[in-house]
Amino acid sequence: MLSKFDLVVVNGLVVTASDISSFDIGIKDGKIHTLAPSFSSEDIGDAQVIDAEGAMVMPGGIDAHVHLCQDQKTDIGGGKCADNFETGSRSAVCGGTTTMVTFATQTRVEEDRSLLKVVEAYDARAQATGSYIDYAFHIIIVRDDKDVLEEELPVLVEKWGITSCKVFMTYETMRLQDYQLLDVMLAALKNSITTMIHAENGDMIEWLTQKLESKGMMAPYFHALSRPPSVEGEAANRAIVLAELIENPILFVHVGSSASANVIRAAQTRGLPVFAETCPQYLNLTWEDLKRFHSPTCFENSKMICSPPPSPDSSDQDALYIGLHNGTFTIFSSDHCPFKYDDPHGKMVGILDHEPSAATDGVPLTELAHKKVGRFSLIPNGIPGVETRLPLLFTRGVSTGRITPQKFVELTATNPAKLYGLYPRKGAILPGSDADLVIWHPEGALTSFKLTNEHLHHNVDYTPYEGMEFGNWPRYTICRGKVMWANDVLLGKPRDGQYLKRGPNQLGKGVAHFKKDPRRVAAWVHE
Ligand code: URP
Ligand code: ZN
Ligand code: ZN
Ligand code: ZN
Repeated sequence: MLSKFDLVVVNGLVVTASDISSFDIGIKDGKIHTLAPSFSSEDIGDAQVIDAEGAMVMPGGIDAHVHLCQDQKTDIGGGKCADNFETGSRSAVCGGTTTMVTFATQTRVEEDRSLLKVVEAYDARAQATGSYIDYAFHIIIVRDDKDVLEEELPVLVEKWGITSCKVFMTYETMRLQDYQLLDVMLAALKNSITTMIHAENGDMIEWLTQKLESKGMMAPYFHALSRPPSVEGEAANRAIVLAELIENPILFVHVGSSASANVIRAAQTRGLPVFAETCPQYLNLTWEDLKRFHSPTCFENSKMICSPPPSPDSSDQDALYIGLHNGTFTIFSSDHCPFKYDDPHGKMVGILDHEPSAATDGVPLTELAHKKVGRFSLIPNGIPGVETRLPLLFTRGVSTGRITPQKFVELTATNPAKLYGLYPRKGAILPGSDADLVIWHPEGALTSFKLTNEHLHHNVDYTPYEGMEFGNWPRYTICRGKVMWANDVLLGKPRDGQYLKRGPNQLGKGVAHFKKDPRRVAAWVHE
């Protein structure tokens, strides 16, 4: 019998950011069509059927912080991003993610001055391979050229639907000074663009790095010592003061410490439009993991290097969980920034750029890595995690009861959609929303297992979560009504994903500006 649906998901425990209840879901033309307590056999007819068997059914994950195809010399420490749009999105979909937002990057190189040209070139990289899942772009801004900001930001919004920019307070080749941050924030505000901030105090890091290097403390582990939590806390506080001046909505990316979470919380309490993101590495790794391999000075520990570094011990992790629970954190993203380990363009840059002759000694790189400590300041920063983001938070957050299933959906799908102007097309299970779903295994149906890198679908030769116990994993991932991942089998194709134009931030402008304060700078500076 003909069905009015193409696909039905039956016997699901449907979880949204607000509710949890048993429903059947009817999907037509890639969209959610009907939610009903139970479909009749006539309703189902000849439609494809997925039986969730009582498992949780959620909006597909939205990962709003993914680095793909970023391999400029001037960018993130001189490495070559191991994942392109095909391999990165493949990994994402196998871990329950149906939408990702990646970064097009301006650089200080003169031909990369134009943001529009940078975006066009980046789009060509996406088109070259295609993507399994839907994707959108943020723009990274590393210069404050007034003409570019004035002329090109409106085009980025109108033509490309790019409504978020990222700025850096550290990294020599990318960081902006305070007056430049103000320039970019003001230009962003005028175009309803949300400013994402990498908040670490670059001067403190450079000073500490010099001190460590002068004492010969160069092994990967010392990367964490060059970035104690106050480095993050100070920068977050400063960025809030700058944003408050012009009343600009900001989002702190990859918050890794309670020092930073506390100043963010205080700003939110004052009614400022300050949003924050944390990531799996900050809930699951500590400084101990930076000494995990062989000896504290083994170069293999470079696998764990990201900035900010994981927190010193589990007390910060507890504080970050509280932040997830109480709303300090708006979103939970992976910061998937993939560098291979055993690769001269990956983590090994930290040895080879320091001691180029080491490459010509004929020793295989992995062996070399046990003999040399390298230099942490040259190691490309970033770790992979687009596929493990949802299962890690599910196992350690939802299954333990630290966060509710609804909070999980809010952090991993609904809020990213609202913050980055994709709601309710994405991040919702509503009639008319894209039929992007992740369906878990029924409770207790999957025997918990230890993760190995062989499980994963990225193009990286390691995972920081090797050997970690997982209690659940997405059983099905559905993108716009197409079953892409089912019972450990990848069914989708790299051209299934589409580019998404986004609208403005839908999480509001805060309430602080309603205060009548005669010293208010924003009252005149916007003109
Ligand atoms: O270490 C990290 N997070 N690398 C990625 C680049 C960034 O700052 O997000
Ligand atoms: Zn960053
Ligand atoms: Zn990042
Ligand atoms: Zn070793």
